Amino acid sequence: MKIITILGARPQFIKAAIVSKKLRQNHQEIIVHTGQHYDYQMSALFFEEMQLPSPKYNLSVGSGTHGQQTGKMLEEIEQVLINECPQAVIVYGDTNSTMAGALAASKLNIPIFHIEAGLRSYNMRMPEEQNRRITDHVSKLLFCPTVTAVANLQLEGISEGVYNVGDVMYDAVLHFLKLAKNKYITGLPIQQIISKSSAYYLATIHRAENTDNIEKLREILKAFSELDKIVIMPVHPRIRGFIENLRNESDMNKNIIFIQPVGYLEMLLLIENCSKVMTDSGGLQKEAYFLKTPCITLRNETEWTETLAGGYNVLCPIEKETIVNTVLNVKVDEQAHNIAYFGNGQAVDKICNIINGFES
Ligand code: UD1
Ligand code: UDP
Repeated sequence: MKIITILGARPQFIKAAIVSKKLRQNHQEIIVHTGQHYDYQMSALFFEEMQLPSPKYNLSVGSGTHGQQTGKMLEEIEQVLINECPQAVIVYGDTNSTMAGALAASKLNIPIFHIEAGLRSYNMRMPEEQNRRITDHVSKLLFCPTVTAVANLQLEGISEGVYNVGDVMYDAVLHFLKLAKNKYITGLPIQQIISKSSAYYLATIHRAENTDNIEKLREILKAFSELDKIVIMPVHPRIRGFIENLRNESDMNKNIIFIQPVGYLEMLLLIENCSKVMTDSGGLQKEAYFLKTPCITLRNETEWTETLAGGYNVLCPIEKETIVNTVLNVKVDEQAHNIAYFGNGQAVDKICNIINGFES
């Protein structure tokens, strides 16, 4: 088949990097990059480091309001699909690039394969929840990472073309962690700043619900400033401006080392070696779980409910004292850790086998 893969944001480059290699053994894949993420550290770095083939098209849509960004993508993707006439379109996850790709293909009656289907937070205020619901409802093959995702789809009356294949992010961690250990055999760049033996927490924040309101971000950073260990925080460009403003406030910034976003290999080692992760990222919650690092999720709900078992992931509202107490008091029950929730590291093989047998 001639398959068009639509990508746009950091987590999609990681997922595609692990799927693409196998997919190309049997199919012609063309990558379209919407340009949603465009900084070197948010995009090109991932293509280079993980040897993801270069996009044939870069639509350079860039940032904007949801309507502007999605509208531009829709128009540009439609033109590519009309020119290329693919037999299928692959989309990943729940970003605006995902939904624009799915809608453009759907209107042209091109079958859509959705990787990481069926996730739900049941919070329709999240742009991601809107994107994933729409995408799932127009997809032909729905590759779910967990049993919960399959059940979520069933509740919405979607059962045809649904497969529980396991999580491609687990495949990615298994594959890229080995590469990371080879690449950083003498230590991570950050170890030139902190001592090799320093214990540290790792934090990332980028969700609209935590970043659209500077008070919430201030509360989070104040909490980090009061913790008992250094906090290493790769800064998502969405909050770069806020951090510049907040970092000079007197009760802020003690303890926190702000760094540029890092590549995936470095990130995996940072997660594996830290004491705890504090995040609102979907991907990071799971990577922490895969690597048995306790995670404090700075949100009121999670799509990845499996990670909550045994206290490996704890939801935490945005309130300074609560964050500090939660981080300091997390305890895990090792017996409850069950990686099988996310498959056996062969999600990519399963996905490609199903695609190989697909007849429209
Ligand atoms: C997007 C996804 C989110 C995903 C995240 C992964 C949507 C609605 N959100 O959120 O689901 O978890 O990607 O990281 O699709 N910016 C830059 N340089 C870049 C990219 C972004 O400066 O390379 C800045 C711009 O000011 C932009 C802001 O970050 O307005 C937000 O970027 P955007 O892609 O709209 O949303 P994310 O927060 O990255
Ligand atoms: N990530 C990374 N470098 C960073 C921050 C995150 O490689 O500086 C990885 C992270 O480990 C995860 C992925 O990027 O696998 C997606 O994370 P993000 O938080 O951007 O998106 P989400 O998963 O919430 O959609």
